[in-house]
Amino acid sequence: MQVGIPKEIASGEKRVAISPDGVTKLKKLGYDVLVESGAGAGANFDDSTYEAKGAQIAPQASDVWSQADVILKVSVPQHNPATNSHEADLLREGQTLIGFLWPAQNGELMQQLTHGKGTVLAMDCIPRISRAQNYDALSTMANIAGYRAVIEASQHFGRFFTGQITAAGKVPPAKVLVIGAGVAGLAAIGTAVGMGAVVRAFDTRPEVREQVQSMNAEFLEVEIEEDGSGQGGYAKVMSKEFIEAEMALFLEQAAEVDIIITTALIPGKPAPKLITEEMVKAMRPGSVVVDLAAEQGGNCACTVPGQVTVAHGVTVVGYTDFPSWMAAQSSTLYSNNLCNLMGALTPDKDGRIVVDMTDEVIRGATVIEQGTITWPPPPPRLSAAPKGAAAAEPVVTPTKKSALSANASAYLNVGILAFLLLAVGYVAPDNFLRQLVTFVLACFLGWQVVWNVTPALHTPLMSVTNAISGIIVIGALVQMHNPSTWAVALAAFAILMATINIAGGFLVTRRMLRMFQR
Ligand code: NAI
Repeated sequence: MQVGIPKEIASGEKRVAISPDGVTKLKKLGYDVLVESGAGAGANFDDSTYEAKGAQIAPQASDVWSQADVILKVSVPQHNPATNSHEADLLREGQTLIGFLWPAQNGELMQQLTHGKGTVLAMDCIPRISRAQNYDALSTMANIAGYRAVIEASQHFGRFFTGQITAAGKVPPAKVLVIGAGVAGLAAIGTAVGMGAVVRAFDTRPEVREQVQSMNAEFLEVEIEEDGSGQGGYAKVMSKEFIEAEMALFLEQAAEVDIIITTALIPGKPAPKLITEEMVKAMRPGSVVVDLAAEQGGNCACTVPGQVTVAHGVTVVGYTDFPSWMAAQSSTLYSNNLCNLMGALTPDKDGRIVVDMTDEVIRGATVIEQGTITWPPPPPRLSAAPKGAAAAEPVVTPTKKSALSANASAYLNVGILAFLLLAVGYVAPDNFLRQLVTFVLACFLGWQVVWNVTPALHTPLMSVTNAISGIIVIGALVQMHNPSTWAVALAAFAILMATINIAGGFLVTRRMLRMFQR
């Protein structure tokens, strides 16, 4: 069979479905490859590179559509002004088209595609289950969009991402809030952390908390407990109370952060409006919002899809084609996804495509089978995280009764200790009592000077220095009622110096800690 790669005709689309390396992979599966001349130009793959890998070059799109048995595309089929025909009308019986389609949004196009009695697999309908990860083009594109969102934000943000201490002054790190920690959100978190920003993230699905934290970002939470995990690893619509609580959190955060990247999405629903105009107003002038959900209406009230606008001094980026801005990268990865899918569709590696509707992944992706609409498929059976996982950890809530009994036993212990001390004081000789007071005081002071060292600086050096200073203070205190004035003066001086050492040590270390604090 022959696989055809037409040049993408959607306006601004620079990606190509198959890279030159993809040609080699398809040939290994037994296919011949026909590439329209100039198809890879936007991604810097020229015709000669395709030819060197064994592809044939077709001068026109019509040659590819008429000769190939399988058409591999990126964008949704479009009207081609050059040939004055619609790509959907070129699909014929026995032919298979694979590319992005978004059947929920393109009902009319779906009908148009049935006319030729061909088969259509939509890359956006591949279920997000572990087995299908290597064909998951949505994740591939979301990953690129998340990365690019941070790069775009940095371009519009007039400051460093990383904190710096320079001779010209201290620069605080940029603070980034990522809303929605799915594929795009996690890519954005990784990129922003890598660039040195302080990153916080929020998501309705508690299962992503550890992923966020493992990337050195802070996971923000609201008081209301509600699990946002839905079917197939996607989110579900949250209650009104939860959305209100998260929006209150975002308003608070808006005043603090410099960049907000929003990726919140529930498949098949318009993007939830989470960043209001009031929140944009609360951000400092020069801040940036990148709204990755712009295509579904946007998470931010000020987003204009496809454009960069400035609202209340805040730049709002609403581009909907980030992957196309990194055409070489996205084409290479998309090509890998397509080749992996072609591998699954060619079980015998004999250059013959087999659409096995009993396979959950292939069933999910097949939206039209020989002219019959087969979308939507039955829902995927697996969720990204087992539902019961969160419930597995028992929650221990301290009751009022147990708090009271803990207090009572503490008072009882103090009472017994006081009684014992009184009894000892009553019977013990004077000398013993003096030694005891010194001992208790030494314990107290030693505890304070050693244990109050900030854990981050709890080095042996700091502890030993403080312990020595503590011993000096105790020794000097003991000498304070020596009959010799010289001894008292020396003791007072020793107390002064040791105290300066302890207090100064704390002050200096605190200053040092502040230098590393973000
Ligand atoms: P995803 O489904 O993996 O992630 C979306 C995340 O949003 C999920 O983790 C979900 O739990 C979370 N979420 C849903 N409702 C929320 C709420 N109310 N508050 C907080 N979090 C909420 O989706 P993916 O693949 O990461 O894509 C994210 C967005 O990026 C989508 O809107 C997608 O269309 C868009 N995208 C944009 C591109 C562009 O060029 N602008 C390119 C690729 C993707």
